[in-house]
Amino acid sequence: MTIENPSTQRPRVLSGMRPTGKLHLGNYMGALHNWVKLQHQYECFFFIADYHALTTDYADTSELANNVREVALDFLAAGLDPKLCTIFVQSHVPAHFELHTLLSMITPLSWLERVPSYKDQQEQLREKDLATYGFLGYPLLQAADILIYRADYVPVGQDQAAHVELTREVARRFNQFFASRPTPALLHAHSDKERLAVEISQNEIAEEILPEPKVLLTPSAKLPGTDGRKMSKSYGNTILLSDPEEVIRAKLKPMVTDPARIRRSDPGNPEVCPVGDLHKVFSPEATRLKVWEGCTTAGIGCIECKTWLGDNVVALLAPIQERRRYFEQHPDEVDAILAEGAVRASARAEQTMDQVRKAVGLR
Ligand code: TRP
Ligand code: SF4
Repeated sequence: MTIENPSTQRPRVLSGMRPTGKLHLGNYMGALHNWVKLQHQYECFFFIADYHALTTDYADTSELANNVREVALDFLAAGLDPKLCTIFVQSHVPAHFELHTLLSMITPLSWLERVPSYKDQQEQLREKDLATYGFLGYPLLQAADILIYRADYVPVGQDQAAHVELTREVARRFNQFFASRPTPALLHAHSDKERLAVEISQNEIAEEILPEPKVLLTPSAKLPGTDGRKMSKSYGNTILLSDPEEVIRAKLKPMVTDPARIRRSDPGNPEVCPVGDLHKVFSPEATRLKVWEGCTTAGIGCIECKTWLGDNVVALLAPIQERRRYFEQHPDEVDAILAEGAVRASARAEQTMDQVRKAVGLR
């Protein structure tokens, strides 16, 4: 297996997604759609974060393997191309956990306790006991995910930006502890000039061991679900990438609209209507003009409006669903893609870990 092809010269991008089961339009617009574009420009690593799923869902893991499978299918269906990017499952690359353990040695508890998602999620997911070591440490696991590939960029939504910031702080601390310690070369430098030369070369090493990644903020269009709240699996208001046409239309039919538009003869306002929000994302300009004009003058009904939206969602999903069908029928190919992805990812990760182990003093 060769990984030193010209593509490895491109800046590196890494991102991951929790295996929540079949992906929905919110997952697609919030991440996958962007990843598919990035794979043409960068050396990309995209992975299914199964260990991350365990940090909150450890009490019932019966769906985990199946969810990983569904997400892999949706990655490929959405157009991630194993010829252009590396797709893998986190638990297939054990070096993530090794780096996580090493980073945990130097990470102050207070840094983890003040990550906003720590308290937020504990409050939101009250039915789960998240007063666990694994849950507190999950942003650090994420830091290891990123740093082990020496990613230049991490495409994530605003909700994950704090985790990338923590990653940068942890990298800086690691580099301070383990990369720029005075080495014998520095202690034995005889002149300022010599000392400076050694320091400069060490700083270069310091930068190389765990470089600080940057966030590549995914512009997030507001994507409401069928009940008008943010589209989210936990609200049960999603449209899945794999939903057949009849299901999509059936889900749109009762979708919440502008509450001021009670009768067909009442004018409405697409700016305050969740269906209008979806048109902004999925419909071409011509349709949007028709909707804005027709809705505000009561020239169209909501049923008609939703039919047009359905047409555009169905058209967007048609090629995605065709690819999904292909991979559903070729499970061995999916296994091979994930296996090869794990090999490629491991090779990269091991390059970093060699230096990390040395720097820490393990070798
Ligand atoms: N924590 C991310 C989420 O919940 C998923 C994730 C895990 C991730 N590791 C990552 C994202 C590394 C970017 C980089 O969405
Ligand atoms: Fe919403 Fe369309 Fe009905 Fe207007 S016509 S209220 S945009 S569903």
